[in-house]
Formats: sequence, C-alpha cells, structure tokens
Amino acid sequence: MSQRRISGFSKKSQQEKTAWLVTQYLSEFPEAKSLFDTYRHPDLKRQQRHDDFIENALTNYYLPYAVAPNFNINGTLYALPMAIEESSVIAAASNAAKFWLDRGGFKAEVLGTEKNGQVHFNYFGKKSVLTSFFAEIKSELIASIAALEKNMKSRGGGLIDISCIDKTEALEGYYQLHLRFETKDAMGANFINSCLEQVATTFEAKAATYAPFISNDSFPEVVMSILSNFVPECRVKASVSCPLESLTFGDMDGQIFAEKFVRAIAIAHADPRRAVTHNKGIMNGIDAVVLATGNDFRAVEAGVHAYASCDGKYQSLTHARIENDQFHFWMEIPLALGTVGGLTSLHPLANLSMQILQQPDAETLMQIVAVAGLAQNFAAVKSLVTTGIQKGHMKMHLMNILSQLEASPDEKKETITYFDDKVISHSAVTSYVKSLRKKASS
Ligand code: MEV
Repeated sequence: MSQRRISGFSKKSQQEKTAWLVTQYLSEFPEAKSLFDTYRHPDLKRQQRHDDFIENALTNYYLPYAVAPNFNINGTLYALPMAIEESSVIAAASNAAKFWLDRGGFKAEVLGTEKNGQVHFNYFGKKSVLTSFFAEIKSELIASIAALEKNMKSRGGGLIDISCIDKTEALEGYYQLHLRFETKDAMGANFINSCLEQVATTFEAKAATYAPFISNDSFPEVVMSILSNFVPECRVKASVSCPLESLTFGDMDGQIFAEKFVRAIAIAHADPRRAVTHNKGIMNGIDAVVLATGNDFRAVEAGVHAYASCDGKYQSLTHARIENDQFHFWMEIPLALGTVGGLTSLHPLANLSMQILQQPDAETLMQIVAVAGLAQNFAAVKSLVTTGIQKGHMKMHLMNILSQLEASPDEKKETITYFDDKVISHSAVTSYVKSLRKKASS
C-alpha cells in the first residue's frame, strides 16, 4: 500500500512513470509495458506533441477515425470526419446522409454566437450600495481587460457587456457579474476565463476603497470566476423536410412512417427516460465530429443536456411534424466550437479534419456538427420505428466479436455469410468460429 503512494510523479520521465505503474499495479499483466510502448508513436517529435497535451502522459489511446460522406449541408457536399468507437454510428450517419442527399439535403443556420461567463461573489450589504458601485466602476472593469481583448477585438470579437445580477433568491448573499462575449472562430475558453479573472481582481480592488462599503463595513467578496458551458445564445438550427410520399420504406407507406416517426419524437418529449436515450443518439453524431475536430466534447455535452432541460423537464432535442403532406424534422442546440487555437491546430488529425471540412469557420462548423446530430437521430428513430436497431447493431457487433476472436480474413468472410440470416450472439459466433477452426485442423 505505502509503496503505491508516490510524490513527485509528474517530474519523472515517461519511462520511469510507466515502469513505476507496471511494478505497482500491473505485475500480473506481463504485456503491460509492451502495450504502453506499442501505442506510442515511433516518431519522437510526433509523440512529444501528444505527450505535451496533458500531464503524466504514458501512451496514446486509439479511437477509430472515419468519414461519413454525402452530407449535403446548405448545398455544399461534405464528408464528415468522426472519431468514435460505437460500431453502428458511422454506418447510420452515412445512410442518413445518402437518404437526405436525394431529398434536398440538410439546411442549417446559426441563430447566435454569444458566449458568457460569470464572476460569482458574496455580498451581504445593501443592494442599492452595490448597484451604485457597479454603475460607477463598470467602465473601469471594461478598461481593465483592454490588453487581454486586443487580439480578439482585431478579429471582430471581445466583450459585449457586463451586468451585475442579483441571485439572492436562489442563494442568500449571492450576486454575479455576468459577462457576454463574442469569440469569433475561437471557442474562447481561455480568453473568457482570463477576462473574468481580471475583472474579478479589478472589482475587488475597487471595492476595497469604495467609501460606502467601508462605512457599512460590508464588501463584495469574489468566490470564483469561470466561463459558463451553458450557451443558449450560441445556438444553431439544423433541419430536413420532404414530401410524405418520398418517405416510403419497403412496404411501409410514407404517411405511416412519418406518423410513427412524429409519435416517437413526441414520446421523447413526454418521457425523460426515453429523452435521455434519444438525445444520447444525437450526441453519437455530435461528439464524434466534435472529437475529430479537436473540440471540447464535455463542454458540448454539458451545455446540450442543460438545454434539453430548459423548460424544467428533460426533453427531446429534436422536433418533428407533418404539415400539408410534408414531413419536417429539426433541432436547435447550443454549440460553442472553435476552428482556431486549442487542439484544432495542435492535433495533426484535428487539423486534418478541418482540411476535410474545407477549413470551416466556427459558424460553419456549428452547422456541420448540428447536422451530424440530426442525421444520427433520424437514422436511430427510423430504425426504431421500422426494423428495430438490433439488426444493424448486431451486424457491426459481429465484426467486434470476430476481432476479439482474432478471426482470419477467411474466417471473417465465412462467418459473415453464415450469420446473414441468423440471430447474432457472442456465444453463437464463438461456437461457429470454433467449428470452422476444428474443421480446418481435422
Ligand atoms: C445507441 O447508441 C443510440 C440509440 O439508443 C439512440 C435512440 O434510441 O434513439 C439507438
């Protein structure tokens, strides 16, 4: 136990860290060291780039990287780069893209690009004193971030405004400075946080010498300053529509399909349990593109799910209706994304994704990502209300099982043919592959 306690770990070299970990935690796993080594890039410079992203980096964690082609978004044809491990996501995205390619494609529009952050502070004095103080020092708060804002301003961004908000109904003595920003093509997290911390410092310094606070012996006290990942003012809409007759699938009539589809969306509005799974399917598409482009998928996830609960109940992010024999399907979501700075330029594959997408600006990337989510949801709900998802899922799962069994190319081919019209399960596939191997060795 005591040997597992370590200080100065971050100062050790990657080799020392790996050796320590292997000795302390992986002594029963002989391949551990070689696994760590194998997944490191042989080109030291490239590997260093990845090691530098985080502290205590030991190796790389691979995820499949794919493209889903044929996405017509506002008349431009895209191949969407996607990084994801879930077997059916790329196939579903590609199918949905192809489906809508023949029906006018996807439309997308940005509804706003504003980001925000807060300086959260305590104040237990008279509100009128705080209000006067804020009015007096507001321009000085803004002036104090002039140097930080310089570059962003030259790109057309910067602070939009600061307001002082009374949050005492939610929590006694709680106020905040609410700052709104435009960050153009940057996600802007570092810029926003730097501005907030500077504003907080100026705010406290000014408060310390403000006579009415001194005479009342009651000063505002900053608790913390941080951007918000809830960005409902940075929103994008993606949509599709087509006549009902072009929604016919096999022997399912277009009208019937559309009615079932609209009902499925209504269920995801009515029931939070269904809504969570429904929205998870949307995030399959969103996260995969967000990750492939080096953006912060945790920020996107947090913001999107908060938005799904905006009306006080967790609901579907997508909407659908039938009107005048037309099927309409759409979604509005908040998305704070960047196409400059951060990992987008540092990670070679994130950079490659940007090239594949023809170097989009942040607004175009918002549109592309929203479409990826809408397409994914269309594919999932379409499967759910027609064949069910297991048929497609298990086909892709078959490949994973075959990989686990280290099947040869011939074994894979034979197994795929054999299971074409059969129910796939782990045990059925294992025993079939075993039978092939037995036959081959006899
Ligand atoms: C699986 O990753 C996603 C789905 O469950 C989404 C949904 O149910 O709508 C298929």
